[in-house]
Amino acid sequence: GLRPTRDDRFSFGLWTVGWQGVDVFGGAIREPLDPAEAVHRLSDLGAYGITFHDNDVFPFGADAGVKQQHLAPLRRALEETGLEVPMVTTNLFSHPVFRDGGFTNNDRDVRRFALRKALDNIDLAAELGAHIFVAWGGREGAESGAAKDIRTALDRYAEGFDLMAAYVLDQGYDMRFAIEPKPNEPRGDILLPTVGHALAFIEELEHSELVGVNPETGHEEMASLNYAHGLAQALWHGKLFHIDLNGQTGPRYDQDLRFGAGNARGAFWTVDIVENGGYDGPRHFDYKPPRTEDMDGVWATAEACMRNYLILREKVRAFRADPEVQQALRDARVDQLAEPTMAPNETVADLRKESFDPDEAARRGMGFERLDQLALEHLYGTR
Ligand code: GCO
Ligand code: MN
Ligand code: MN
Ligand code: MN
Repeated sequence: GLRPTRDDRFSFGLWTVGWQGVDVFGGAIREPLDPAEAVHRLSDLGAYGITFHDNDVFPFGADAGVKQQHLAPLRRALEETGLEVPMVTTNLFSHPVFRDGGFTNNDRDVRRFALRKALDNIDLAAELGAHIFVAWGGREGAESGAAKDIRTALDRYAEGFDLMAAYVLDQGYDMRFAIEPKPNEPRGDILLPTVGHALAFIEELEHSELVGVNPETGHEEMASLNYAHGLAQALWHGKLFHIDLNGQTGPRYDQDLRFGAGNARGAFWTVDIVENGGYDGPRHFDYKPPRTEDMDGVWATAEACMRNYLILREKVRAFRADPEVQQALRDARVDQLAEPTMAPNETVADLRKESFDPDEAARRGMGFERLDQLALEHLYGTR
């Protein structure tokens, strides 16, 4: 059905429904949202979990006492609702001290402060039962050429992940890290701009087994990339640790629309790979309810994220179960791609012996358009 249940494992960042609408052209248009209230509302709507940055819950610089004061009502709300905290992340971008980033800031003392802030938050994440720690390096980057030596910045970035990974192993935490790529905004150019850059970086880390990716729909689409393909490649590498679902309309500023808005066709293939590609983590929404909305509008967008996912899940299931689709898949030889190009024990000599008529093969149409039309008709609702 289209009513979300906890088994659907929908989760939301507290900073999504809590976004006050501050942008580069204007200030807040909504009141601050109490995290405990967000937990109750999201629970009522059918979510199973919430996620947060340290400073979504307690202020920057809070001492142990102030921290606990802010955490207490959140813990109570989690107990009352049974909601989980599958993921936690650290804000290393809002305070002016992070104007040049955290782990890759040119200032060494800022880097050391950023590491302490992240490590403290890993302790909190472990205490709340989170198994994924997201790292979005929004301020790790540059606007100009000489100001940042990218190769040494990557050394420092790797040093940060190596330290955090060694720390969770040392503490015996069951915790993995998920790097969230983004091409730009707020920096002119952000380090690890796409899923591919992040996957290559991870392989250079000391504990690469503990580090994967958290791809966000809009961030890949800002770079004109295919989000579903990014998810598929991350799965292929065994690195899809978490996802940030939202909506985007092509390469422009980061829109963070509710999931299913923006590129609807992309959303269809996103749900297909998330459901059928072997991902078993939370269906996490990271979006921003537009500034036009009051709080009723905010809750409508949260509901819509889950509803759009469920609508698309039904359509994807119907598409995959459709006998005409199954025939069209065979006609398109999608099954043949699963067959290794060389048979076991075959050699290059066997390959060379083979005769082949390229002109005959070149005349075979692939049948992809008919297959895609069937997908579109499922999406458009005529099948
Ligand atoms: C963005 C990012 C951020 C991060 C979040 C986690 O829209 O630029 O998605 O929202 O995901 O802050 O650190
Ligand atoms: Mn975004
Ligand atoms: Mn995100
Ligand atoms: Mn976001």
